[in-house]
Amino acid sequence: MSKVEQYITSIPDFPKEGIIFRDITTVLGDADGFHLAVDEMTALLDGVEFDAIAGLESRGFLFGAPMAYNLHKAFIPIRKQGKLPRATSRMSYELEYGMETIEVHRDDIKPGMKIVVVDDLIATGGTLEAAVHLLEQLGAKVVKVVCLLELKGLHGRDRIKTCPAETVVAYE
Ligand code: PRP
Ligand code: ADE
Repeated sequence: MSKVEQYITSIPDFPKEGIIFRDITTVLGDADGFHLAVDEMTALLDGVEFDAIAGLESRGFLFGAPMAYNLHKAFIPIRKQGKLPRATSRMSYELEYGMETIEVHRDDIKPGMKIVVVDDLIATGGTLEAAVHLLEQLGAKVVKVVCLLELKGLHGRDRIKTCPAETVVAYE
């Protein structure tokens, strides 16, 4: 297991009873923890050929943007509904604690483009499944999904069938 784990805080019953919230703000709040997390996520892309990183609002931005900057790649924001100003495509999905819709600017995605999708965490996998479908629907090829954390018991990675998914820290 990565040393990043020691920077993650677990909060029981947030945002509702029964959820153990894995808080990554304590990773960001420590210069060493933040470096370690971004570097280990970036290392998962060694040898991977791609054109851009798509990050998921909001916590996916915190890791996806520095990874794209380090690797000199474009960063494409996938945002919650109603935030992006140009023409968008959207996809709705169920969260561990509610419903959500994500959108991407249509002109950010060119057919055949190779994209890496980055988020902080795979829980049920609903968010990543929706993001991968959204990008594939627009003609992109999602070559890899990279997240900092995975909640294994929720089997979220089983929902991402068309590309490999890798994570730095896994919780049972
Ligand atoms: C959280 C997290 C992932 C998603 C994981 O985002 O950052 O994007 O949930 O859950 P899933 O695997 O069950 O779909 P959230 O929608 O809470 O938004 P935030 O990043 O803005 O806090
Ligand atoms: N997003 C969805 N489930 C989560 C969890 N258990 N901890 C942190 N973020 C989450």
